[in-house]
Amino acid sequence: MIMRRATSLCFQNAAARILFHKRILLPCLSSKFFSSFQYQQKSTHTLHNKYFKMTSFYIATQLTANKKSYSHFTKSAEKSKIKDFIKSFNGKTLSIKWEDEFQYEFHSVWLRHNCHCESCRHPNGQRLLDPSSVQTSTYLANLNLEGDNLNIIWTNSFGQHHGVVPLNFLRSHTYDKTSLLARRQAAKNGYPCSKIPNISFLEVNSSTLGLLKLLQQINEDGLSIIEGVPLEDLKVVEIANLIGPVEATIYGTTFDVEVTKEPINVAYSNLEIDLHQDLVYYESPPGLQLLHCLKFDSSVQGGESIFLDVFHIADQFRLTHPDLFKVLVEVPATFQKVHYNRDYPVHIVNQKPHIKLNHYGEIVAVYWAPPFEGPLSVAEEDVERYYTAYEMFAKTVKSSLNLLRHRLQPGQLVVFNNQRMLHGRTGFQTNGGLRHLKGCYINIDVFKSRTQVYNNLYGDKRLAKRVGNQCWF
Ligand SMILES: [Fe+2]
Ligand SMILES: [Zn+2]
Repeated sequence: MIMRRATSLCFQNAAARILFHKRILLPCLSSKFFSSFQYQQKSTHTLHNKYFKMTSFYIATQLTANKKSYSHFTKSAEKSKIKDFIKSFNGKTLSIKWEDEFQYEFHSVWLRHNCHCESCRHPNGQRLLDPSSVQTSTYLANLNLEGDNLNIIWTNSFGQHHGVVPLNFLRSHTYDKTSLLARRQAAKNGYPCSKIPNISFLEVNSSTLGLLKLLQQINEDGLSIIEGVPLEDLKVVEIANLIGPVEATIYGTTFDVEVTKEPINVAYSNLEIDLHQDLVYYESPPGLQLLHCLKFDSSVQGGESIFLDVFHIADQFRLTHPDLFKVLVEVPATFQKVHYNRDYPVHIVNQKPHIKLNHYGEIVAVYWAPPFEGPLSVAEEDVERYYTAYEMFAKTVKSSLNLLRHRLQPGQLVVFNNQRMLHGRTGFQTNGGLRHLKGCYINIDVFKSRTQVYNNLYGDKRLAKRVGNQCWF
């Protein structure tokens, strides 16, 4: 328990108001935060002391459409000081007014759950608090300010607790309607891109800002092409490791997309593949897919890669076919991979609706993979309405004007968010030539974490998009 003496701000009555001034620091710039990421800076050939130069360079050169919405949580908080705070009459809430006129309310029980004292929270950020010891009927008994921290005494039927909550933590975690909306808007993906962004292998491989740029391209547009990747068999893994560890799947750690005699996946033939996501039958399908083009002879006819932002499709579908959209949210499809005649026999069946909403009714996941669907297994009255909605969604996907087409060249490596971008390819004839892509996956949370870390350390601290990790933020 911590209860240091500093500026004494004891409340003699419920309406006590205290004026004071304190600068708010960004949590991301704290020394603790930096030290916790030092290992990553070493691993990505970045010197710690380059941070400030790179940040200012990046902010000066990268302006984004949604900058306004997240600046509310960063720059304004950085500059603002606290003007006053008011404990409610019954001690159940605390209202804090900042000098920039933003005013936020916090519940006593919320503050108690977020106590930062050493008995409630480990220095590594993990909570030590026993949640069964906190009651909703916990009251603010006393408050005083010490530096950038608010010292609080709570009372409930178990007794008193002396704790502390940093002011910058409070400002970064406000939960009034406007704050929640702004945060959700900042984390929401934008419109689909009309051209696949690209970046050179040299840039990604040799600079932190290069990797930041790649992460942001994938984060904003859903995909990117890395140009000039050396034609080495496992180069794809080396590039993946810049973002995070490779996720092994039922197809192995890496996989080769090339024509084989008895393909365990249609991808390993020359057939056309309709737009789909990979491994949707997993509880959590892989996040990023990387495909490195090692061979694509000029004699090969066809074999173009195609991509489509399925979140945008679902958003549009909701507007054009609201009733059918509802069916795709309510009735579960069957996704499956049941294949015993392979080295590693597989039997996975997973039932879930094509579209998943959060408690605000916003789309947080879309699952679309016709090649990996099993028999529908739902109530009789749902069968026809499901197939009506399903067929219309399939037509909407097929007729989309936002389709991105690209014939990969040897040395190009496409990275895309498998949970956001549908992918497929046109059929092809080899005509004696070869088409060989080497692929691997990265878990969606690893990607999102890497993006947020790089945004915070080297970029403009924008929120990573929630797209594809089913986050409700
Ligand atoms: Fe695929
Ligand atoms: Zn505590």
